[in-house]
Amino acid sequence: MCGIVAYLGDKEAQPLLLEGLRRLEYRGYDSSGIAVLNGKGLEITKRVGRIDQLERALNSHPLHGSLGISHTRWATHGKATDINAHPHTDASGKLAIVHNGIIENYGVLKKKLQDKGLQFRTETDTEVLAYLIGFHFDALDVETGNRLEMAVMEALREVTGTYGLVAVHQDQPDVMVGARRGSPLVLGIGQHEHFLASDTAAIAAHTQTVAHLRDFDVVTVDRQGYRLKSLTHNKAGLEISQINYDAGEADLGDFPHYMLKEIFEQTLSIQNAVRGRLNLEECTAQLGGLNLTPQELREIDRIVITGCGTALHAGLVGEYIIESLAHVPVEIDWASEFRLRNSPLDRRTLVLAISQSGETEDTLGALREAKRKGHRVLGICNNVASTLARETDGGVYMYAGPEISVAATKSFTSQVVIFVLLGLLLGRMRFLSASQGREMIAAIEALPDQITSILKQSDHIRRIAEKYRDIDSMLFFGRQMQYGIALEGALKMKEITYIHAEGHPTAELKHGIIALVDEKTPSVFLCPKDGAYDKNVNNMQQVKARKGSVIAVATEGDEDILQHADDVFYIPEAPEYTAPILSVIPLQLFAYHMAVILGRDVDKPRNLAKSVTVP
Ligand code: M6R
Repeated sequence: MCGIVAYLGDKEAQPLLLEGLRRLEYRGYDSSGIAVLNGKGLEITKRVGRIDQLERALNSHPLHGSLGISHTRWATHGKATDINAHPHTDASGKLAIVHNGIIENYGVLKKKLQDKGLQFRTETDTEVLAYLIGFHFDALDVETGNRLEMAVMEALREVTGTYGLVAVHQDQPDVMVGARRGSPLVLGIGQHEHFLASDTAAIAAHTQTVAHLRDFDVVTVDRQGYRLKSLTHNKAGLEISQINYDAGEADLGDFPHYMLKEIFEQTLSIQNAVRGRLNLEECTAQLGGLNLTPQELREIDRIVITGCGTALHAGLVGEYIIESLAHVPVEIDWASEFRLRNSPLDRRTLVLAISQSGETEDTLGALREAKRKGHRVLGICNNVASTLARETDGGVYMYAGPEISVAATKSFTSQVVIFVLLGLLLGRMRFLSASQGREMIAAIEALPDQITSILKQSDHIRRIAEKYRDIDSMLFFGRQMQYGIALEGALKMKEITYIHAEGHPTAELKHGIIALVDEKTPSVFLCPKDGAYDKNVNNMQQVKARKGSVIAVATEGDEDILQHADDVFYIPEAPEYTAPILSVIPLQLFAYHMAVILGRDVDKPRNLAKSVTVP
């Protein structure tokens, strides 16, 4: 994981790097650091903890210079400590690197360098890489002008693993070298200045002209400009593009936390996901980005949906939606599992990779595995500049805007509504009548107002969260299209409150889970008025009979539910396929308020990072 920002230009580097790091904090926040070349040498400041800690240190001792590299870390090798924070230096202390990824053969490389008499200061794989580059730098002819570039390339030829990295050396004070394999790195091209960063968000306030490095690219930036080389002798140049990113969109505004802001943005993000995609005349959806002809769409006889975490939960809801609307068999698989197993795909199988960030390592691994076997892979993705967006054969963008909080919220509802659109499109090509299509369109168009009405319950949900603040554990139950919401409700609760939470299909209660029910373990039942309503109520009674508290998510107007539940979150009446988009919102708010009440770091929960870019 981790985020990198580097700058070479005519301005002071430190403030630009700090600002960039703040925009990348979603990629990790165990520690952060910055190195600046100031004409006299290399100066480094790094601190364990949030970027505020680093900023405080830099306020007392600012680093001056117009070339700098910086990093925000999610620890993989070595604890989160000052010393393990990046940048790391080589044995001479004259070379510094920042790195995102994992050097898999670092043990072998470390031994080799130790055998040459070098002594290491940290337990990290990145320090080994820094030493290795430094070793090659020192071995090269001093007269060589592109010594750092050559040293980086020599070192990377020995490395197995993944990296997005930037290196600087005080003997070449006007050069920075970036390289990529597996972890993203983007070059930002400005007026008399260049940036290298893990994500365009870090640099978009300063330049909109960018080029994404490909695997094995090595880019050298100096005061004259940049040049590209490739470790695989790939002759293709960098593809320069303009980004359309409004850095202001990522600001908090009047909200106390990004998570709350993003929950409230769902009225708009749903509209953005649907805009231009409904065909009222044909009573269907239009998803041009799929890059499939109607004939090809008709020929799909199986869909495999893959992703991680919240994205996978959206896929699980999508499985029920597509099977019920289009009668196409759908299979769900965690990307981490799919990439390793020998899934029997065939020509008519469509693989759908879902990811908000488009940078999740396991999801990219799954999509590459499917492509290797010759399958068509489409993506559902929010980040249009992501690796997933570039590597899939087509897909659907969410257009949800930046999601900063580690807990995914608006991306989830956008993903589910895209599955509704896909179900409508595929369904209308198969079994759905025009009037059914029209009904679906009406249900989709009703969503923004329905979401607004749920958001108005935020204070009511906070009061209920207050009531349950002392619990240690919580259960979430749902059936059919609500099963994925039970999983998602539990995930939201555990990741930001640290309260143990489990999600299950409701009927599994009696097959073991009921043993957990007691006065201190409340159960949340997703219980809208649908085909599973009576069965859900039966299960609620079984929990009540064992002194467990019940919180129900129910349909407005359902007064009977009050006999079975201690507390109720109401959602507007909706068909089964749009109800999950509504029922998840009270659970997002519930987890949010609980986390605030418990004093948790809502947007940056412990041990997590927004984008999981390591396997
Ligand atoms: O960027 P992605 O959608 O690929 O991320 C997948 C998961 O890492 C992500 O959904 C994670 O589970 C969230 N923290 C959940 O809130």
